[in-house]
Amino acid sequence: MLNYDNPKLVIETAKLEPGSITWRSPSNLAIIKYWGKYGLQLPKNPSISFTLENAFTQTTLEYAPKVNLEQGIELEFFFHDEPNEAFQKKTTGFLERLSGIFPFLRQLKLTIRTQNSFPHSAGIASSASGMSALALCLCSLEDELFSSLNEDEAFDQKASFVARLGSGSACRSIFGTLAIWGESSDVEGSSNLFAIPYDEQIHDNFKSFHDDILIVSTGEKGVSSTAGHALMEENPFAQPRYLQARQRFSLLLTALQKGDLDAFGKVTENEALTLHALMMASNPSYILMRPNTLKLIELIRAYRRESKQPVYFSLDAGPNLHVLYPEGVIHEVRPFIESELVPFCEESLWLPDWIGEGPVQI
Ligand code: DP6
Repeated sequence: MLNYDNPKLVIETAKLEPGSITWRSPSNLAIIKYWGKYGLQLPKNPSISFTLENAFTQTTLEYAPKVNLEQGIELEFFFHDEPNEAFQKKTTGFLERLSGIFPFLRQLKLTIRTQNSFPHSAGIASSASGMSALALCLCSLEDELFSSLNEDEAFDQKASFVARLGSGSACRSIFGTLAIWGESSDVEGSSNLFAIPYDEQIHDNFKSFHDDILIVSTGEKGVSSTAGHALMEENPFAQPRYLQARQRFSLLLTALQKGDLDAFGKVTENEALTLHALMMASNPSYILMRPNTLKLIELIRAYRRESKQPVYFSLDAGPNLHVLYPEGVIHEVRPFIESELVPFCEESLWLPDWIGEGPVQI
């Protein structure tokens, strides 16, 4: 079993110059969803996602030698330039849990400054971009201090492993285009411990896909994803769901390779609705879609029937809608989105987005 614990990663603090590291890391949209986990953030089924471009988190990690070495993690946290106590506590706990992997963190005074590209209250899931940006900063810091991660593949794998510990879906954001997380006999090298890139076998139809995000509600979610995953344990549909996810995963890979838009759309939309059906069938049951989510779904399906354009929807664990379509139809589809769909968004909020190239160090 892969184990990144390394007690040798300690520094001579007297010699250390203060410094800082910045990464920008994107969010991602799962086509086959991760919903249900076990052990230490391990997925019950393989998932595959589009990496986005426009929805990202930018995080700067500042470090300096610590004066009082007795303390544990010493961290200040600023979100959009404001001190944020809730994030400070959550991140301190996470860094404490990582101190077997990065023992040097306890020797440093740390400051994290982070911001999202999308409006703070837009209701766009930010754990994937946030946790992946942080994991990348931590791996860069390790490499700067010990020159221990200078091979790209080793760096990405460790960053993905660490991001997974922060939030499962974050491990996929380390890679551009598409990423796979979770063991599958269909994909060599796939693992429950980290994600891997999946871009070479993709048909051109999918390489420049758009994924516009329509904000139906900016309100705080009633049930977090973490609580939602936990409810899968007693969900009577859990086992058939995990089996279905595996079958759909294989189907989707074939569609992606062949460029089969129709098969892609069927699986994508059914996955989104299955995710929400599982929430409704949980005990206690809950609903994250809002009336306008359904309205938008109906409008997209009607438009597709009439125009025959390949436009599909997906959902995250929330009310907002992702509209998916290939680059080739943007001139027909964009006007439809702007005139027919955006009026159903909260304060006409929407974020044009597309498949991106993955995180960048700034
Ligand atoms: C519906 O990764 O947010 O977006 O591992 O508890 O942090 P934790 O959950 P999270 O769950 C994401 C669920 C999803 C589907 C997906 O991204 O695969």
